[in-house]
Amino acid sequence: MIKINNISRSFIGDEVETVAIDEMNLTINKGEFLSILGPSGCGKSTLLNVLGMLDSIDSGKFSFLDNPVDKFSEQQRAKLRKQHIGFIFQNFNLIDELTVEQNIELPLYYHNVAKAERKKLVDAVLKRVDISHRRKHLPAKLSGGQQQRVAIARAIVTEPDLILADEPTGNLDSKSSTQVMTLLQQLNQDGATIVMVTHAAEHVCYSSRVIELLDGKIINDHQVDGEVQSGNDEINGMAKGEKNQQTFAEVSCG
Ligand SMILES: Nc1ncnc2c1ncn2[C@@H]1O[C@H](COP(=O)(O)OP(=O)(O)OP(=O)(O)O)[C@@H](O)[C@H]1O
Ligand SMILES: [Mg+2]
Repeated sequence: MIKINNISRSFIGDEVETVAIDEMNLTINKGEFLSILGPSGCGKSTLLNVLGMLDSIDSGKFSFLDNPVDKFSEQQRAKLRKQHIGFIFQNFNLIDELTVEQNIELPLYYHNVAKAERKKLVDAVLKRVDISHRRKHLPAKLSGGQQQRVAIARAIVTEPDLILADEPTGNLDSKSSTQVMTLLQQLNQDGATIVMVTHAAEHVCYSSRVIELLDGKIINDHQVDGEVQSGNDEINGMAKGEKNQQTFAEVSCG
């Protein structure tokens, strides 16, 4: 589905250049549920934004569903994004003035879906994320977990092939986090490809594969199947050395 070859992305600030993605290679197959782990500032969000075509690359090749995205104009990228990708953010990014059902309906307007069909699709996803009883509420009247379920409903109402989630449980308590992770896992089982950035190493267990980033590079790439130990001594050493940055090397999913 996604193939990136040797891509780089830098940000130029006041005289300093930050290399957020450094000559990275990655292939993501249809049906995968990929977790991205790594310390703050290592390039996780930048990578997700590049994959979602919200950000462009400085060099390298990027193919999405066989489209040469690196050669595409902004307009072509926007079209591809609208057709195939749904986003979920840490801060939910719901529109405060719109009700739950209006928030979810919004992307369907942009897809020119007729009114009756919009209602049918909105009803179905409301049920799917178990929030039908709050459909007339404004986001501010909902708990964080409920808001994130609405945001997931909005992301999936257009039936995207790829769901990109940047720390979707970052602002949630553990019960709501479990609900959101279970929902993502079900969506993946129903055929969506998911790429999720997370700080919570235990959430990696819901996914099928995990990559770890450091300084804009992939330093580890595992399949998730039961108990997993990092084969990389450098990572295991790092996990021991840095107490507050739990890496996947320390987690088992048995
Ligand atoms: N728009 C920007 N302008 C300048 N620098 C940026 C910009 N976006 C990201 N960076 C820099 O690029 C690097 C990677 O940032 P990124 O947001 O991808 O990290 P992250 O892994 O998502 O971190 P966190 O876990 O804190 O969210 C950081 O050094 C950051 O300061
Ligand atoms: Mg980030």
